[in-house]
Amino acid sequence: MKVFHKLDDFLDFAWVQISRGKADKKSPARHPTFITSNTDGFPNARTLVMRQCDRENNQIEFHTDTDSCKMLSLKENPHAGIHIWLPKVNLQIQMDVDVEIKTGEITIPYWNNVPTNSRTAYGSIPSPGTVIKNPFDYEYAPDQKRFAVLICHIQTIQLLLLGDKHIRAKFKKETNWQGEWLSP
Ligand SMILES: Cc1cc2nc3c(=O)[nH]c(=O)nc-3n(C[C@H](O)[C@H](O)[C@H](O)COP(=O)(O)O)c2cc1C
Repeated sequence: MKVFHKLDDFLDFAWVQISRGKADKKSPARHPTFITSNTDGFPNARTLVMRQCDRENNQIEFHTDTDSCKMLSLKENPHAGIHIWLPKVNLQIQMDVDVEIKTGEITIPYWNNVPTNSRTAYGSIPSPGTVIKNPFDYEYAPDQKRFAVLICHIQTIQLLLLGDKHIRAKFKKETNWQGEWLSP
C-alpha cells in the first residue's frame, strides 16, 4: 500500500496516473467522467476520451460535437468537473476546471490528427440527443465544422487514496499547487 507524507509527492503520483490516460489506452484515466451543470439545474456526467494532458500548463483536452448538449451547458457555465477512479492504485481524482471552447478554423490542426474512422463522432444527423423513432434513424456525417476542442484549465485537484488509513488532499492553482491535507 502506498503512503505519502509529502503533499508534493502525492501530487506527483497523481500526475503520473493522469498522464497514463494519454499514454496507455488501458488506463482508466483515458476515460474520465466530465461533469457540467445543466441549464435545468441538474448536473450532467458523461464519459469522454482524454485527448491530451499537460501538467506544465495545467490542462486536459477533450473533443466533442459542437451540437452536443454539453456545449450548451458549457456556454451557460464554463465551470466543469472531471472525475477519475483508478482501482489498481486505489486513487480517486477530482478536478474543478474552467473550459475554453475552440471551434472553427482554429481546430483544423486538431481535426487533421483525428483518424478518419474516428471523425464519425463529430457531425451525426440529426444532432446528438435528438429524439428519433428507431435506434438507427441517424447518419454519420463527419464535419470539421461540428468539431469542438475543449481545453480544460485545471483550477483544483483533489485526491483520495484508499488504504488502511485513507489519505486525502486538495491542491489549488491559486496557491501554486501547494496543497493541504484533508480529513478523508
Ligand atoms: C468510452 C466512451 C468514450 C466516449 N468518448 C467521447 C468523446 O471523446 N467525446 C464525446 O463527445 N463523447 C464521447 N462519448 C460519448 C459521451 O459519453 C456522451 O454520450 C456524448 O458526448 C453526448 O453527451 P452530451 O449529450 O451530454 O453532450 C464517449 C462515451 C463512451 C462510453
